[in-house]
Amino acid sequence: MIKRFKSEVMAGRVPQTLWLYSDVGHTKEAKEEVNAVIPNVPEVFQTTKPERLLKRILEIATRPNDLVLDSFAGSGTTGAVAHKMGRRWIMVELGEHCHTHIIPRLKRVIDGEDPGGITKAVNWRGGGGFRYYRLAPSLLERDKWGNWVINKDYNAAMLAEALCKLEGFTYAPSDSVYWQHGHSTERDFIYVTTAALNHEQLQQLSDEVGPDRSLLVLCPAFRGRGEYPNLTVKKIPKQVLNRCEWGHDDYSLRVENLPQKPPEPGQQELSL
Ligand SMILES: C[S@@+](CC[C@H](N)C(=O)[O-])C[C@H]1O[C@@H](n2cnc3c(N)ncnc32)[C@H](O)[C@@H]1O
Repeated sequence: MIKRFKSEVMAGRVPQTLWLYSDVGHTKEAKEEVNAVIPNVPEVFQTTKPERLLKRILEIATRPNDLVLDSFAGSGTTGAVAHKMGRRWIMVELGEHCHTHIIPRLKRVIDGEDPGGITKAVNWRGGGGFRYYRLAPSLLERDKWGNWVINKDYNAAMLAEALCKLEGFTYAPSDSVYWQHGHSTERDFIYVTTAALNHEQLQQLSDEVGPDRSLLVLCPAFRGRGEYPNLTVKKIPKQVLNRCEWGHDDYSLRVENLPQKPPEPGQQELSL
């Protein structure tokens, strides 16, 4: 029996260390920690982890300034601990407790108003910041025949802004020129429309753009005739799908111009 256990250990199939609750805490302690920061712990946090446990894990797996991802943020313990330990963090959460718990919790950590958890152990006094983004609805959806179409939740302005981001253009709709929704350089523009374009419309666009400028046209369908040397015309569902990645191990984001916030004077650049 012992022999078998040893071989299982050698093969890495059984735990080789034991983390006692005296070292890394327990669920009751975790609930008390969350409750101390934000009262009325909801049912969803039944499995919340103590800050001491996350501290040990982050000590083993990360160094200061590393990026810690918790894509199921829950009560926000991972982010709170990462923040107190000088790590950067990304948390993702779909539940409303993102607003009722995670954001208030992290604000208190930043304001130095969370004396619990690992605060004393790491001598945390507050600082840093974070940015919060709400994910837009999916740009594409399937119609009743299973074809990809533009999601009806998107109005024309949202669609233009989303496609500018995907294509690496700065969204800057012109008040006077209907086909200028954004630009990548002074002479390179993007036009997004939900209308199907025919040859006359494309020719008119090409004439207006002229020889010294270029235009990327994104539309659901087009029927062109001949060449439009200053236009690149692409179909929207297809072009969006080309930007999506399915079934990969590596989901590196191909969105080209993620927003960058300049650091505020005197602010520690801990935010993402
Ligand atoms: C068990 S909790 C996570 C606990 C947390 N990681 C911690 O360290 O204490 C799981 C959370 O994942 C969230 N969740 C489930 N599916 C999700 C999804 N697809 N995207 C984002 N969050 C999700 C749930 O709302 C819930 O808050």
